[in-house]
Amino acid sequence: MNRAREVLLMTSFLLLATTVLAQEYPVKPIVIVVPAAAGGPTDTLTRVLAAAMGETLKQTVLIDNAGGAGGTIGINKAAKARADGYTLLLYHVGMATSPALYRKLPYDTLNDFDYIGQVADVPMTLIATKKTPASNFAEFLSYAKANKDKLTYATAGVGSASHLCGLIFMNTIQTEFTTVPYKGTGPAMNDIIGGQVDFICDQTTNTVPQIKSGNVKVYGVTTAARLASLPDVPTLQEQGLAGFDLVVWNGLFAPRGTPKPALDKLVAALQAAVQSPAFRTRLADVGAEPVLVAKATPDSLRALLKSEIDKWTPIIRKTGIYAD
Ligand code: MLT
Repeated sequence: MNRAREVLLMTSFLLLATTVLAQEYPVKPIVIVVPAAAGGPTDTLTRVLAAAMGETLKQTVLIDNAGGAGGTIGINKAAKARADGYTLLLYHVGMATSPALYRKLPYDTLNDFDYIGQVADVPMTLIATKKTPASNFAEFLSYAKANKDKLTYATAGVGSASHLCGLIFMNTIQTEFTTVPYKGTGPAMNDIIGGQVDFICDQTTNTVPQIKSGNVKVYGVTTAARLASLPDVPTLQEQGLAGFDLVVWNGLFAPRGTPKPALDKLVAALQAAVQSPAFRTRLADVGAEPVLVAKATPDSLRALLKSEIDKWTPIIRKTGIYAD
C-alpha cells in the first residue's frame, strides 16, 4: 500500500475514533477529585456541581475526597490520573498558593492540567467556637491578642484557603496563633463546634449553616461588601481591617492530555450548570456565587490561575513560610 494511502487510512481511522468518542463520551461514571475531606466547602460545592453536570451529561458524577497537605495530595492524584475524561479536579485558590508554599510539588501546577472553567466564587467568614467570650469583632480582637499563646486556629493544611485567610489575618493584626491542620474544614468545623479548636476563617458554604443555627460565633465576612446571606454580619473592612478582601475562586480541571471531545462536553456541561437556576439558588443560600458563563471557559480559568500565582507568590514569599 503506498504511503499516501497509508496516511489517508490512518487519518480516517483517527477521525472515526474521535467521532465515536465524541458521540459516546461519557460511557461510564466520571470522578471529580476533591483535595479536601468530605463535608467541607469544596466538597459541598463539588456535590452541587456534580449533580448539575450529571444531568447534562446523563451520567453519574462521583466525588473522590483526597484531603491532606493543603490539597496538594489530591491535586497530585488528579494530575497523575489517566487523561481519559473520567477523572477531573475541583479546587480553588490553593492551586495558586501552593507553588510558593511548597519547595517541591510533585506536579506542575500550570502544565499538568487541561482547563475546563471557573465554577463559583465563595466568600469567607471569621468564626469562633461558641464559648469565645466576645460578642463582636473588637472584643474578639482584644481577647485573641491577650490570649495569643493559648488560642488555636484551624486550617485545611498549608496552602488551603483557610490557611491563606489565616495568614492574611495574622499578618494584618500582627499576631501569630498556633495553627491546627485538618484534612479539610469539614472536620475542622466539628472541632470548632465542639470547642477543641478556637477559630477559623472558612468559606460560607461551610459556615453559613452553622452561623444560622447558632452553633458558632461569627465576627466578620472577608469580602469588601456585606453578604445577602448574612446581612447583619459586618465586613472585616468595616471593623478596621483595611483592604481585607478575600473571595475563594473555584475551578474545574482535567489531567493534561484529556481528549478534546471530552473536554468540549465537560465545558458545555459546566456552562449549563452555572446558568441553571437550581444551581444558582443552592449556592446563593450559602452565600456563594456561580460565575458568569463567560468565566466558565478554559481560557478564563487558565488566565486566572496564572494571574493568581503571580499575585500570591510575592506576598507568600515575604512571609518566609514554607510547608516543606
Ligand atoms: C480549604 O481550603 O480551607 C479547604 O479546601 C476547605 C475544604 O475543606 O474544602
